[in-house]
Amino acid sequence: MSTFAFTLAWRQSSRFCHIRPIKHATSNVLSTKTSSVTGSIFERIPKEELAPKTRPRVRNREFLPGSTGDGFPEYLAEPSDSFPHGVRVKTRDQSSLLEMGANCMEYIKKNLTDRQAILFRGIPAETAEDFLALTQGMRGKPLSYEGGAVPRPKELKNSDIYFSSAEPGAYTIELHNEMPYLKTFPRKIFFFCLKEPGESCGGETPLAKCSDIVLKLDPEVVKKLEVKGVMYVRHLPDKSRSDYMPWQHQFYTEDRKAAEIRAQQRGNTVRWDDNGDMYLTYTAPAFPSHPATGEKIWFNQVTSYHCTYSKALPQYKGSHLPDEKYPHNTYYGDGSDIEPEVLQHLRAVSWSCAVGFRWKKGDLIALDNLNVQHGRMAFKGERKLLVHMTAD
Ligand SMILES: [Fe+2]
Repeated sequence: MSTFAFTLAWRQSSRFCHIRPIKHATSNVLSTKTSSVTGSIFERIPKEELAPKTRPRVRNREFLPGSTGDGFPEYLAEPSDSFPHGVRVKTRDQSSLLEMGANCMEYIKKNLTDRQAILFRGIPAETAEDFLALTQGMRGKPLSYEGGAVPRPKELKNSDIYFSSAEPGAYTIELHNEMPYLKTFPRKIFFFCLKEPGESCGGETPLAKCSDIVLKLDPEVVKKLEVKGVMYVRHLPDKSRSDYMPWQHQFYTEDRKAAEIRAQQRGNTVRWDDNGDMYLTYTAPAFPSHPATGEKIWFNQVTSYHCTYSKALPQYKGSHLPDEKYPHNTYYGDGSDIEPEVLQHLRAVSWSCAVGFRWKKGDLIALDNLNVQHGRMAFKGERKLLVHMTAD
């Protein structure tokens, strides 16, 4: 049987026949919806306005695992006509940011299922407090980043407004769904641009539709991951040994038992080593069922959580740590190693499905976390994004 015939037969016989590209509404349908729903406060932005001035290089990119190997695209693709779906705020004649937030959410509720990523340009918010007011107007169920895998400090105390990532700007963050390694993960993610990077300074947010990724993956790779699932293993050092995300900071306690209980409540199995380091294990499907539709969805961090992501970073250059001593690692669900060629294939396919857009100050993007992966291109200079996540 030819590869193509096998692929077709497998897809037709598999549960993944559910996974198919999302049909997009036509622009006419959308404009009708827009005017009737929102009173026309938003208008479409042509894709050319979203495109970076210079297409970011992906192949042979510094600190990006797999980028010198097979299958990587030369450059990050530009936005398509519909992804991300860009709209501009036509009028700033809003009585408050609460009202603007409510308008955005109304638009999101009508369109995010089809569009999966909606960029609102020209939101009149200038500060983190403004962004908080905007999210309050959206009236979602805020979700904390507690248990998240990277440093993401709170921007405002007593709120769920975070600085998007404290990872150095020189690092390119691989495409991923947010927090699939925890029992509770966000359904929607909102990024807001307080400070845009300079025109040629990078910092684009790559986005890829999970359905596009699955359709391009080798069916045998998909099948193995579906059968075995993914094991996420986290290494949290004792604070006496490292100041990079020690377990005492992660759980806001000095008490081992208290930390253990908090980790178990989040679905983790806990192990300690003789040095006082903590290891958390969580096993999840690579293709969980969508909570609303029941469809199988590609929702995981197989690659960005794998130790090869850390190994590509300069701080680990020349270090020869055992894999479990890196901050996080993934295995198949039975604990066996994921083959290097599988990781390369997953990375190459993900990047070949990604598009990137250029941030402007006042941009808000809403992502359907269950159906879209996001990442970050490296950047120079200043760039400031805030993030807010919701459980609904
Ligand atoms: Fe993320």
